[in-house]
Amino acid sequence: MTTNELAISGDLSQLEARSAESLPPEALGYIRAGAGDRDTTRANAAAFRRWGVRRRTGTIPADVDLSTTILGTRMPAPVLFAPVGVQTLAHPDGDLASARAADELGLTYIHSTQGAYKMEDVAAANGDGSRWYQLYWPTDDELAVSFLRRAAAAGYTHLVITLDTTLLGWRPLDLDIGYSPFLENKGIANYTSDPVFRRKYMPAPAEASPLATGIQFARVFQNPGLSWSQLPLIRDNWDGPILLKGIQSPRDARMAVRNGIDGIVVSNHGGRQVDGAIASLDALPAIVDAIDGRMPVLFDSGIRTGRDALKAIALGADAVLVGRPYLYGLALDGQRGTRRVMRSLVDELEEEVRRARHRTHRTLSRSSLTRAR
Ligand code: FNR
Repeated sequence: MTTNELAISGDLSQLEARSAESLPPEALGYIRAGAGDRDTTRANAAAFRRWGVRRRTGTIPADVDLSTTILGTRMPAPVLFAPVGVQTLAHPDGDLASARAADELGLTYIHSTQGAYKMEDVAAANGDGSRWYQLYWPTDDELAVSFLRRAAAAGYTHLVITLDTTLLGWRPLDLDIGYSPFLENKGIANYTSDPVFRRKYMPAPAEASPLATGIQFARVFQNPGLSWSQLPLIRDNWDGPILLKGIQSPRDARMAVRNGIDGIVVSNHGGRQVDGAIASLDALPAIVDAIDGRMPVLFDSGIRTGRDALKAIALGADAVLVGRPYLYGLALDGQRGTRRVMRSLVDELEEEVRRARHRTHRTLSRSSLTRAR
């Protein structure tokens, strides 16, 4: 084992501290960054500590089945790779390595619009794996439609529209050092490879003027005017299931149902967008109640261990997305590192489900938990 492999094999909750030694300050800053004072990022993690798992007596099951199907996608475990942009900050192979690791594990990979590599290359790295596409809906609808067409052609089956980043969060860790990866043209490969973006916004090759390209990107990326009334455009141009990511209120969850959306991701973007927002886990139960089984509810923000995943599932999530932890694995040991982190998390989830005396995560419920304090 290499030193980095050893660093990953221990307690998953310590990954951030371990990977800090491998990352340059601007990369660590961008990945760790939360909005404002990072209160919400900390609250996300703290919310898990307020729940304990009730242990039942009885035989510990020999076999545990974590498999599940979400909107037609079969998964060996209810754990997905969250869409994460600019992964080359963690490792030069970036999202290619993560997409390969996801394929090796059979887990679903969600490719970000802010991918460091273009969606076609990530799809090739993911091979026969299961992949969904995450859309940041740009201000230019022709560009949005072009992204959708390319994603469908590259084998992405589900669309995840992220709603909480129509304006980029206020992130002092980046601001203090005046850092934006996009201005260096990191994390905009889907744009610079797009025929519509190239025709309308890139008069010169990106290499000739990276700053000008970065500024053009910034013009189309932020879309504060996005509204429910624009959904038909996506529907007309996307045949597969559509999920909305960034739901934090029961009202928005009900709106998603009314608008015929197929699923939601309860997420506050790992606390990167609105500081002072409640922990994502605290938002989950009321949203699950509002949805009342009418669509799958996925969850992210703050999951660091298999135990955390169990708690989110017991509170009603059908599956969880994991963000920063796999990036820390990537930073420590590339593709092997990210695979190892996700594998450990799934293995730990299996063990925790077994110890709670359940044969499958699907029978967990709120009564499986108790308020720890
Ligand atoms: C993200 N996240 C994110 N989400 C998204 O929809 N599109 C994106 O491009 C990105 N990019 C991104 C970059 C980095 C560096 C991080 C850490 C996160 C948010 C991500 O999908 C997920 O919601 C959070 O990471 C979940 O919180 P945890 O697991 O990191 O606490």
